[in-house]
Amino acid sequence: MRVLGIETSCDETSAAVVAAEGDAARVASCVILSQDVHRVYQGVVPELASRAHLTTIGSVVDRALADAGIALGDVDLIAVTAGPGLVGALLVGVSYAKGLALAGGLPLVGVHHLEAHLFGTALDDPAAVPPFVGLIVSGGHSLLLDVPRWGEYRLLGQTRDDAVGEAFDKVGTLLGLGYPGGPAVEQEAARGDPARFRFPRPMLHQHQRPDDADYFDLSMSGLKTAVIQAVRASRDPAADRPHFARGFQDAVIEVLVAKTLRAVETCGRTRVVLGGGVACNRALRGAMASALARRGATLHAPSPRLSTDNAAMIARTGMFRAAEAGRAVDAAARLPFPGLARA
Ligand code: KG4
Ligand code: ZN
Repeated sequence: MRVLGIETSCDETSAAVVAAEGDAARVASCVILSQDVHRVYQGVVPELASRAHLTTIGSVVDRALADAGIALGDVDLIAVTAGPGLVGALLVGVSYAKGLALAGGLPLVGVHHLEAHLFGTALDDPAAVPPFVGLIVSGGHSLLLDVPRWGEYRLLGQTRDDAVGEAFDKVGTLLGLGYPGGPAVEQEAARGDPARFRFPRPMLHQHQRPDDADYFDLSMSGLKTAVIQAVRASRDPAADRPHFARGFQDAVIEVLVAKTLRAVETCGRTRVVLGGGVACNRALRGAMASALARRGATLHAPSPRLSTDNAAMIARTGMFRAAEAGRAVDAAARLPFPGLARA
């Protein structure tokens, strides 16, 4: 079975071909075109994103098919991100996918972008299978999930304000590091002194109990404000820049690791699957892997290429969804991420 995946939910235009090989799946091709235009505005401008998807979607899909050495006629299923995302951007991918499905007489399946981030890790690491605790940290979402099996997702906690990637981006902008801020903040932090600034660890207290509403939830806005105030109070913000970045990143990592360990213990899991753009952060991966190893658990994280938005994870999820439904479902009909209710 060969699945063509299409992803246009935010600022990456991506298409990929994933082939089923027994129980496993192989990425036959994956084209990711990152839209540069948003750098000028230090954030994604929805209308510009839609227009950029519109001008490039055709060539991105053609290239993915060519890289896989196949034609549209060789495809068995088309999978497209149906949400969540920017509505105009999603519309470009969904409309294009519907057009292709109609032209090729192919079934079409709509995929939930966040479920796909979990499947993305499994594409790189065959051991990243349920049961596991999932931590999705991207520019738009921060979710801590218990995943007893594929298709069943119990929401343990999420951010109450900014997503983790969004916080990295805002701190990046504050420190004059450009957009997106994540990779640049990580680079600066590597040169920073961890003892120079100690910022608050939001929603992390010793006395919290599993039935407390903030036991698993995250919050980034107070931390962001603390960084802003420290920058304002600094006599030499340029010289302090790596130290701000280090203090901020250390606070985020400590909270993410602590909350993930809580989830692992509460749910009795031995695997953690990381997904989303922030999963690229090597300091986070290192700290998480060592903390989990001390509890006899393992971290499963995707390669940087499959951490950020890509269509290979969409194709892989579509493959699962189609098998699950026994038939393809219409992209616009529903967002299949069942059980995403609070645990
Ligand atoms: O998953 P993704 O590509 O797009 C969304 O669905 O949002 O995630 C993008 C986010 C951005 O906020 C970016 O700053 C962040 O991932 N990111 C990082 C790193 N690389 C990307 N954050 C921290 N450290 C990184 N190395
Ligand atoms: Zn994403």
